[in-house]
Amino acid sequence: MVETYELLSAKSGKEIRSRMFTFRDLGDRKVALRPEFTASIARLVTSAFKKEPKPLRIFSVGSVYRYDEPQRGRYREFWQSNFELIGSSKPEADAEAIILTDCLMKLSGISNYSFTIGHIGILRGVLSQNNIAEKVQNDILQLMDKKDLNKALALLEKKGCRDFLEGLLELKGNTAFETAERIQRYVKDYPVAEMAAKNLVDILTLVAASGCPIEVVEPAFARGLEYYTGLIFEVKVPELDVALGGGGRYDKLVESFGGEATPAVGVAHGLDRMILATQIQNSFLSKKQRKTVMIVSIKPELRAEALRISELLREEEISVELEVMGRRIKKALEDANRRKVDYVVIVGAKELKAGAVAFRDLGSREQFTVKIAQLPKKIKGKGRKASS
Ligand code: HAM
Repeated sequence: MVETYELLSAKSGKEIRSRMFTFRDLGDRKVALRPEFTASIARLVTSAFKKEPKPLRIFSVGSVYRYDEPQRGRYREFWQSNFELIGSSKPEADAEAIILTDCLMKLSGISNYSFTIGHIGILRGVLSQNNIAEKVQNDILQLMDKKDLNKALALLEKKGCRDFLEGLLELKGNTAFETAERIQRYVKDYPVAEMAAKNLVDILTLVAASGCPIEVVEPAFARGLEYYTGLIFEVKVPELDVALGGGGRYDKLVESFGGEATPAVGVAHGLDRMILATQIQNSFLSKKQRKTVMIVSIKPELRAEALRISELLREEEISVELEVMGRRIKKALEDANRRKVDYVVIVGAKELKAGAVAFRDLGSREQFTVKIAQLPKKIKGKGRKASS
C-alpha cells in the first residue's frame, strides 16, 4: 500500500506524480500511497520474483489512491484488479491482456463495451527520428492524453514536424485494421515507427481471431502513464465518459528498477467503475442463489447442539446464522421472516433424541422433521418441497 515516492514516481509521468498522496514516514522517508500496482510489481520482479521462471502472470486486487476531483466514476480511493504478464515480447502476450479484459467485462454482465487501441511506439518512433528529446515527447503525450491536441501540435510546430504528425493523428480507416494499415504505410520512412505499426497489426489480428470487439484504432490515442513502450488500450461503455480499464506494454520498466531487460504487458480494471456500469446498465452478476438458514434452540441447554449443527452446515458451504438474542421461537421466526431467511432449523429435545430437528420453510410456511444428517441435502437440494 505504501511505497517510496521515488519508486512510484520514477516512470509514472507528470500527471500521476501530481496526484499521489505523499507524506514522510516516521523514518523521515518520502513515501506515497500506491496510485497503481504496476510499479510495485516491476519492483517485485527485480527482487522477490527475480529467479522465477518466465513468463510470470501476476494478478492483484486492492485499493489504490489518486488525488482526482471526486465526481461520478472518479474517486480518490478506488479498487483495481490488475494483471501483469512478465517476460514475453510477443504479440500473443499483448492480445492476452486485451482478451482477458474482454472476458472480465463479459462475465461481469457489462454490455456494449468497446476497446480503443493505439501504439505508443509509433509516435515515439517518429518523434525520436525527428530528434525530439524524451522529456518533450513525454510532454506531448501528456497533452494528447488530456485531448489537448492543439497544444501538442503547437509544441511540435516549434520542433518543425507539426505537419507530418498532424497528418498521422488524423488518419482514419473504416475499420480498426484499415486504420492500422494506413498508419503503417504513412510511417514507412520511419523504421522504428513502422515496426511498431506492424506490431499493432499483428496484435489486432490475434485479438480479432478471438472474437473480441475492437472498435477503434486511434492514432492520437495516448495514456497518462509514461512507462508504456508499445500497445496501449482502454475499454469503455457509451454510458460513461471514463474508462473501465486500461493497460499496455512496458518493456523498459523492470530494467529501470535495476532488473534485467524484461518485456512486460498488463492491464488494470477499475472495479468501482465496472460496478457503476452494471448499475447504469441494470445488468447484475448472475449470482449463485444461496439458501440462508437460521438455527434456533428451544431451550438454553440445547445451544451447544445448535452450534454443532451450524458448524456442520457451514462445512457444507451453507450460509447459517445462529439465534443469539435468546428469543423465544415465535419472536425468532418473526425476525427470520423480516430478514428473508429461507429456512429455520429448530433444535428441540424430542427431535434430537431421534437425531433430527424441526425444519421450517419460511417461504411455504411448512414444517417437517428432518434427520440432522439429511439437512445439507434438504437445504441445498430442492428448496421448498422438503419432506421428512
Ligand atoms: P490506469 O488507466 O491509470 O492504468 O487505471 C486503470 C483503471 O483504473 C482505469 O481504466 C479506471 O477504470 C480506474 N481508475 C483510474 N482512476 C480512477 C479514479 N480516480 N476513480 C475510479 N477509477 C479509476 C493503470 O493504473 C495501469 N497500472 C494499468 C496497467 C497495468 N498497465 C500495465 N499494467
